[in-house]
Amino acid sequence: MRSPFGSGVLMPRRRLAALAACLLLLASGPATHAAARPLQQQPAGGGAKKAPFFDEISFEGSALLITYYSGVAEVLIGRGALVPGTTPLSGLSGGALTAAVTTLGMGGAAQRDGWMGMVKDCAKRWGTCAGRLNTVVTERLRSALPDDAAAKLGSVVRVGLSQLDAQSRAFNGSASWVVGAFDDKADVVSALTATDFIPCFSGPTTYTLFRDQPVIDGGYANGFQQLCRNVSSCLTIGSYVVGPLANHTCDAAACPNLAKSGCGSDGRAEPIPQTLFKNGPVAAQWKVSALRDRCPASAFAAGADTAPYPLPGMVPQSQTDPWIHPGKFNPLPVKPWDGKRVAACEWQEWALSPPPEHALDIMQLTYAQGVRDAESWADANGFPAVKAAGADKPQAASGGAKPQAAARA
Ligand SMILES: *[C@@H]1O[C@H](CO)[C@@H](O)[C@H](O)[C@H]1NC(C)=O
Ligand SMILES: *[C@@H]1O[C@H](CO)[C@@H](O)[C@H](O)[C@H]1NC(C)=O
Ligand SMILES: *[C@@H]1O[C@H](CO)[C@@H](O)[C@H](O)[C@H]1NC(C)=O
Repeated sequence: MRSPFGSGVLMPRRRLAALAACLLLLASGPATHAAARPLQQQPAGGGAKKAPFFDEISFEGSALLITYYSGVAEVLIGRGALVPGTTPLSGLSGGALTAAVTTLGMGGAAQRDGWMGMVKDCAKRWGTCAGRLNTVVTERLRSALPDDAAAKLGSVVRVGLSQLDAQSRAFNGSASWVVGAFDDKADVVSALTATDFIPCFSGPTTYTLFRDQPVIDGGYANGFQQLCRNVSSCLTIGSYVVGPLANHTCDAAACPNLAKSGCGSDGRAEPIPQTLFKNGPVAAQWKVSALRDRCPASAFAAGADTAPYPLPGMVPQSQTDPWIHPGKFNPLPVKPWDGKRVAACEWQEWALSPPPEHALDIMQLTYAQGVRDAESWADANGFPAVKAAGADKPQAASGGAKPQAAARA
């Protein structure tokens, strides 16, 4: 089974042009506003101590950082914290894809290989995934998902979409739509290619349809408050927010796109209101009837928020305090190609515009980071490494406690 990517949470409104130009996947980036406050980092210590009890798991968006979730899933499954098909999962965009394939029995390492294969496929066929991404995602989901996917995912997996109001002529009045039951496999594929729908990037249109309703990426209207059934007992996982163990210097050499806006993001307190983030006056200019074919993305951006139809912002991931996220338990990785440690803003820039020549290496690095972070969380929260039983893992190191994830990574 293979599939693709995800989306994140902060839509760079001025960067749609850059987005279209970037090699890969989807969606998240920090909103770019000069007055933004630097809230990507969590308070030291990761915030208030959480009770370890949880009865569901939720993944936010990710764009290319989706392999972080693959690493986390690999470990949570291996440690017994996540029981595929039983543990309720939710997600949006890359997080929704992760939740779905995990529930259908795909291990984290296989997920990573699937996402990487998809990116390679895109690059080979068109040189870029921009505007074509969902072509590959749809093909792969159709061929990889089992015929009974709807039954297997229903009541276990919740997928966050951002629904446009089809009864309104304008784009405002749009809201979170969390789908937790599916009619058939086609309905599942449609939901997964709706939650990842970044306008003009995932496909050549500004929105797509789910059950005949206009929708866009889940990151525009959903956070954990929407995804989790009960956020107090939801093991939350974010790929984009970076914690205190990372270097938060806003370095233009490390993150040229984000540095332009000071590496900040917009604030928005949850709970999320019933409208798209920052959709305010500009969203009312989005005439739904006229929007569908308004691509490429440069038609929106043209380098300014004041373009005819600027997009609303995504829900900032950095407003939340996920239980597991990069830079909370471990430093970010060292890049093998230049020997330097990844900066926080650079990690975030990888979500949307990784250097094309390192895109696949980056997916490996983010996977390994997900493995490390989930191991740290699991060690501290009562999910110790499984002792190597030797039975079906003859290749595992003889010396004992070795998490499956590490053995496979
Ligand atoms: C959307 O915009 C229209 C036109 O400005 C306005 O009349 C309507 O009240 C707005 N709806 C919401 C939900 O904000
Ligand atoms: C949500 O979870 C918390 C923590 O387990 C629990 O105390 C609370 O009762 C739950 N709320 C609902 C509505 O189930
Ligand atoms: C953080 O990054 C900046 C700029 O890249 C660098 O000058 C600084 O030395 C780094 N700080 C640490 C503690 O590594």
